[in-house]
Amino acid sequence: MCGIVGFIGNNDAKKIVLNGLTRLEYRGYDSAGMSLFNNRYQIFDVYKDEGRVAKLVESTKNSSYSNIGIGHTRWATHGKVNKENSHPHYSQSRRFIIVHNGVIENYQQLKDQYLSHSTFISETDTEVIAQLIETFSQTLNVENAIITTLKLLHGSYALLVLDSMDPEKIYAAKYKSPLIVGKGPEGITIASDLMALVGYSDDYHALDDKSFVIATRDDVRVFNLNHELLPLHLKKIEIDNADTEKGEFAHYMLKEIHEQPAVLRRIASNYFDKDKSLIDPQIIQSIKDSDRVYILAAGTSMHAGLIGKQLFEKMASIPVEIHIASEFAYQKPLLSKKPFFILVTQSGETADLRACLVGITEQNYKTLTITNVPTSTLAREATYFLQLFAGPEIAVASTKAYVAQVAVLAILAYELSSKNVNIKYELGIAAAAIDTFLDSQKLIDIVREKLTHRNCFYIGRGLDYFVGLEASLKLKEISYIQTEGFAAGELKHGTIALIEEGTPVIALISDPHISGNTRSNLKEVQARGANTLKIVTEAVQQKNDEIVLPNVHPLLTPLIMVVPTQLIAYYAALERSYDIDKPRNLAKSVTVE
Ligand code: M6R
Repeated sequence: MCGIVGFIGNNDAKKIVLNGLTRLEYRGYDSAGMSLFNNRYQIFDVYKDEGRVAKLVESTKNSSYSNIGIGHTRWATHGKVNKENSHPHYSQSRRFIIVHNGVIENYQQLKDQYLSHSTFISETDTEVIAQLIETFSQTLNVENAIITTLKLLHGSYALLVLDSMDPEKIYAAKYKSPLIVGKGPEGITIASDLMALVGYSDDYHALDDKSFVIATRDDVRVFNLNHELLPLHLKKIEIDNADTEKGEFAHYMLKEIHEQPAVLRRIASNYFDKDKSLIDPQIIQSIKDSDRVYILAAGTSMHAGLIGKQLFEKMASIPVEIHIASEFAYQKPLLSKKPFFILVTQSGETADLRACLVGITEQNYKTLTITNVPTSTLAREATYFLQLFAGPEIAVASTKAYVAQVAVLAILAYELSSKNVNIKYELGIAAAAIDTFLDSQKLIDIVREKLTHRNCFYIGRGLDYFVGLEASLKLKEISYIQTEGFAAGELKHGTIALIEEGTPVIALISDPHISGNTRSNLKEVQARGANTLKIVTEAVQQKNDEIVLPNVHPLLTPLIMVVPTQLIAYYAALERSYDIDKPRNLAKSVTVE
């Protein structure tokens, strides 16, 4: 979940590492640190503290020029959020300095077995790695000391290592946590996310598990853990600098909400040549050959998966089961005879999902990852992969990726069906519908007037119920209002007991067949004092409905119904002056189980 960046070359390492950390801060923001070479004293200085990268910018203000450096932004796993537990960590003599992303599961055992003589400063699992390298370096050369250490580690790691006795090298290694090497005219950048490389590298190589890297100013070599040289598979970086910035928007989340129509149009143009689908026919065939589709995901992606299930079943009559990744990984349900697995994930790095993929792959089942990040672990390790084309999503609260996931699942469902629907055209209609609504100021007043309590409920039926689940996650994760999404008919079976004078209840109503039932449920909560709000489509509009959205294809309503709920969450957090893009306790990419 943390972000790591290292640079070696003929440029200012501090500038490149700090820029990279700023871009990766959404991955973890409990603390930040970096190490730079001090040419005067011929040592690596370490700067670190709890807090944001902005604080690190301040504390490194007077550091001298260095052409080599590594940095880290942390989401705490082992040990409190404090300076001691912040990265970089160093070995006892301070010879080795490291930053680490991941979790070393056997760190206590390694400590007991090999490091009883060492003094530890932090509570982290990471410090064990630094101490082990130093211990082994007493009898082995540095490369072998690092490789020997790597072979002992259980868990996950993306690591950067500096050796004070050789300030012309960065060592790196990867297992399960992502790590990417970038090559540019001025040097080598190594980071946990492609975003950190943008502007400094032209090409990148995504490291495989159990890779060991030696980077110098103008060269990078990758080895396996048997010290055999591996080929570099360089690809062009296709992210624009503008994609990594907020532009005219106050927050990334608002920018990303506004990008949604463009994302839908981009998906339509990338998945179709005129009206012919460009989806690999093997994917379609593999799904058709299966007797059941299993969708696995977490958080917002799981909510998109719930919509996907409806689309597959309604459009293509393919039975679908959906499972929360963290549950599926260890509570394996009884599978059908010929299952096909779809893993839905914005980042492509979610550890719970990776645990699922490893287990599924061991059983030789076919898998499809639908992700925004083509370089990601889950994209590379699944049998097939489909890209979301949402562009970098930086706000921790996912918005445009959700819309993209629903759209790609819809394209897949339509491809599998025999129904005669022009999905490309329908996505265009949905994009235009979102456009008409984005700049409505009405929601700001509604949020002020309605969201005054510490709790809130979203209710809906059918697809609207699933949108309500996503709407409630969005509201709770950035405004900290305790919000639940409910099937409208289910409230009266218990939850209605929570409704008191003024409790906000937001109804999502888009399906003409069941709109009357949801309206009745809304009456029931109104009778008990709820402060209600209706978000509806024109198809079901009635007098006094507060938010009315244009009609779209009935199975694509989630694409537009979700948008006002994203804005409600945004304005509720803005009203409370919370850190919208980096809500408390969260991180964008959840790479620990
Ligand atoms: O990268 P993924 O889509 O696999 O991430 C899954 C969840 O962690 C993610 O959707 C999370 O729930 C978001 N913060 C929601 O806004």
